[in-house]
Amino acid sequence: RRHLITLEELSLAEIDQIHATATAFKKILGRSVKKVPALRGKTIVNLFLEPSTRTRMAFDMAAKRLSADVISLDGASSSTTKGETLRDTAENIQALNADMIIIRHAASGSPLYLSNILDIPVINAGDGAHEHPTQGLLDTFTMKEHLGSLKGRKVVILGDILFSRVARSNIHALTKMGANVTLVGPATLVPHWFTDLGVKVSHDLKSALADAEVVMLLRIQHERQSSGHFPSLGEYTSMFGLNKTRASWLNPKAIIMHPGPINRGVEIDSELADGDRSVILEQVSNGIAVRMAVLYLCSGGQPESVVTTD
Ligand code: CP
Repeated sequence: RRHLITLEELSLAEIDQIHATATAFKKILGRSVKKVPALRGKTIVNLFLEPSTRTRMAFDMAAKRLSADVISLDGASSSTTKGETLRDTAENIQALNADMIIIRHAASGSPLYLSNILDIPVINAGDGAHEHPTQGLLDTFTMKEHLGSLKGRKVVILGDILFSRVARSNIHALTKMGANVTLVGPATLVPHWFTDLGVKVSHDLKSALADAEVVMLLRIQHERQSSGHFPSLGEYTSMFGLNKTRASWLNPKAIIMHPGPINRGVEIDSELADGDRSVILEQVSNGIAVRMAVLYLCSGGQPESVVTTD
């Protein structure tokens, strides 16, 4: 596969292949090798037209560890501020001989649109409320490190599901991997129609947490909520925020995840975000190896020939 646009379109075998390649890269980096020559001579453009800390830096680091040259362009410093279209921006990047574009954009479908008009691979780094495939891949990779196979495992995703591209990508990956997924939150942010995706929907936090092996918290995305029908941050926190009392409903072995950025004291209290059960910073670290795997495979690299040293 040349592009990575969604996890919905990936098969279980493709997800497993990306995870296996990420494991190989993680082992190499674990031996304190800083770089492999796999993408030497390639130029990768990070086109981020929405803010990012983790995803942009992890793609940047992943590309550099593969020995690619990386150029980053953000919305504020690009000629999109002068009215240049996304299509023109992308075609100019291709004309400048880029070998791959990583794009984050507020509009759902923009990576798919570019993949249909460009000759070079396009990687989705988050498109509106649609998908964030590398986040779903690194989240499931991190879960597998802690739980082994995800078949039959109980995963709760708690928060603003409606506007979450992270939730959608995780739902597609987790259901393909055989996990039992329950979405939890207020009815306006977790509508019943999500059951069409093969998951359960619950508005009862206590019973959902009781048998969870993973609880993934999501930020309330007020920037995507246009009407007044959604809870305020205070209302959300009082009903669904993960605090010490509610965390006591969890199995002691359950792990706590969050894709970031965290709103401390809103969807999760600091003592839990920083506590023993939190794997939040492991997720961030795993983002490098997983994105190395994605860049390598989308560039035509063969999983069995991951190059070991520079
Ligand atoms: N998880 C995530 O996408 O974080 P950033 O917005 O900082 O990239």
